[in-house]
Amino acid sequence: MDLLHVVQARHSSREPTPDPLRLRELAFLLGWSLGLRPTEEPAREGSRRYFPSAGARFPLECYVLALRCESLMPGVYHYESKRHALSCLAECDSSARARAIYGHEWIAESRAIVVFTAMMNRTTMKYGDRGYRFSLLEAGHAMQNICLLAAALNVRVTPVGGFADQQMTRLLDVADLDELPIYSAVLP
Ligand SMILES: Cc1cc2nc3c(=O)[nH]c(=O)nc-3n(C[C@H](O)[C@H](O)[C@H](O)COP(=O)(O)O)c2cc1C
Repeated sequence: MDLLHVVQARHSSREPTPDPLRLRELAFLLGWSLGLRPTEEPAREGSRRYFPSAGARFPLECYVLALRCESLMPGVYHYESKRHALSCLAECDSSARARAIYGHEWIAESRAIVVFTAMMNRTTMKYGDRGYRFSLLEAGHAMQNICLLAAALNVRVTPVGGFADQQMTRLLDVADLDELPIYSAVLP
């Protein structure tokens, strides 16, 4: 699809999809949104992505709660952008965890949830309190990439900002870190 068609096609969908999410679809969404962007300048290699970041600080981290994904056990994964790989943090009853964290059945029955966190000190050490705002803006940029890529793939998605902070923090095991969960993409 060309860009205008993709922009027109993007919308939030909470309709369930019967088939599990394909690994190649998940990889496409992650790689072209949070993945590393090759640069022409060797000194900058590995330091740029497909969305902008204030001062190129890139505070965002990305996790996947896999519920019904091909080749992935239900559980929590961290997306390692440098390796374009998922590392498993914990296998769990991800549907029950999603139900507790979001309180919506359509989310508990979804196929995957991509969660963005921000490592606040990466950006506040340069910009002070304004770094907090920058992190939120950047999550919006990255989320729009996911939404447009999903539209191009004909994969359903809804951006969801409403979740139980403390339970999400515990699930991702980031409680003791300067890392805040801020936004999620639910793939029903
Ligand atoms: C910052 C943000 C937070 C959102 N949080 C939720 C949410 O918690 N639950 C939900 O069902 N939808 C959520 N949405 C999706 C909106 O309901 C949806 O984008 C809106 O109804 C417009 O519909 P559209 O995306 O199809 O254009 C959120 C959207 C944004 C931008």
